Amino acid sequence: MLPNTDLVTLNGYINQQERKFPKAMGNLSGLLRSVGLAARIVNRELNKAGLADILGDWGTTNVQGETVKKMDIFANSHFIAAFKRGRRCCGIVSEEDEEWIMTDEEGAQYLVCMDSLDGSSNIDVNVGVGTIFSIYRRLSADHPVSKLDFLQKGAEQVAAGYVIYGTSTMLVYTAGSGVNGFTLDPSIGEFCLSHPDMKIPENGSILSVNMGYAKTFPQGIKDYIDYCLAEDKSTKRPYSVRYIGSMVADIHRTLLKGGVFMYPSSADAPNGKLRLLYECNPLSFIMEQAGGIASNGKQRILEITPTDLHDRTPIYMGSKNMMDKLLALYKGW
Ligand code: AHG
Ligand code: MN
Ligand code: MN
Repeated sequence: MLPNTDLVTLNGYINQQERKFPKAMGNLSGLLRSVGLAARIVNRELNKAGLADILGDWGTTNVQGETVKKMDIFANSHFIAAFKRGRRCCGIVSEEDEEWIMTDEEGAQYLVCMDSLDGSSNIDVNVGVGTIFSIYRRLSADHPVSKLDFLQKGAEQVAAGYVIYGTSTMLVYTAGSGVNGFTLDPSIGEFCLSHPDMKIPENGSILSVNMGYAKTFPQGIKDYIDYCLAEDKSTKRPYSVRYIGSMVADIHRTLLKGGVFMYPSSADAPNGKLRLLYECNPLSFIMEQAGGIASNGKQRILEITPTDLHDRTPIYMGSKNMMDKLLALYKGW
């Protein structure tokens, strides 16, 4: 019997998709290949983190006021370098940099917003972390790139996705025609299609939230959490509560198993903690493309107009039927 050769690599899939768009110039494909390259470099470093001098703090705080980890700097440097070497993007917004980064590719048409390492507080305890990326077209080739190019609604994204460095390393992305997951085969150094056309279950029984801040959540969210924790076997309640503390890992589980993930506003975080441009928008694009819902409680995340590069927003996202119930109870509290 002949060997099975129907391997679909990330490159092969990107080429297939490119053929559907005769006018495609291959620039988006090039950008996605840069993500794949940088992800493999970061994955290699993370896999030996305990042995290499890569754990612990870098010694500075970032624009978010958060302690920067050595791995934050490693990942940020390699993703920026990969995007610059790929020469397909004309500007980058990163969680780690206060201002947007020029790439000197004035002719390129795409912009990237990224959280180069998500969940960095989990690195030193060997828990799954990720990278999140979001791709837009620049507003106009007639004007130099400016901050305004990065303040587009999430609905304008051309592509978005994440890498999860977990028990296996996966790259999950959408370009607006569904969500596909690729698992890294380290023996050949390729991301291979393993989760075609990912869809989130309409129902779920997992609630993902940091209950430490629950006292000052909006009343409607408190009501929803009470609903989730009430006893009703017919609707599988009380739900399980699962919270990893890396948004990519919590969202990946929610996509695969169903459930609701939330980071509400609270007294400590009046606009929530998670950043709109490089956490909430890309993961909301993925969530909606997989058949889920992503909201700030009052509107779609993807309809929010950013005011600044590091805007934060409360976020509620997950299975359609669970989100319908949450939004019915939230009533804009
Ligand atoms: P980052 O490591 O990029 O700063 O992101 C951490 C975020 C997100 O990954 C996670 O959902 C959230 O912070 C956890 O925050 P709390 O520890 O406040 O629950
Ligand atoms: Mn993050
Ligand atoms: Mn980060």
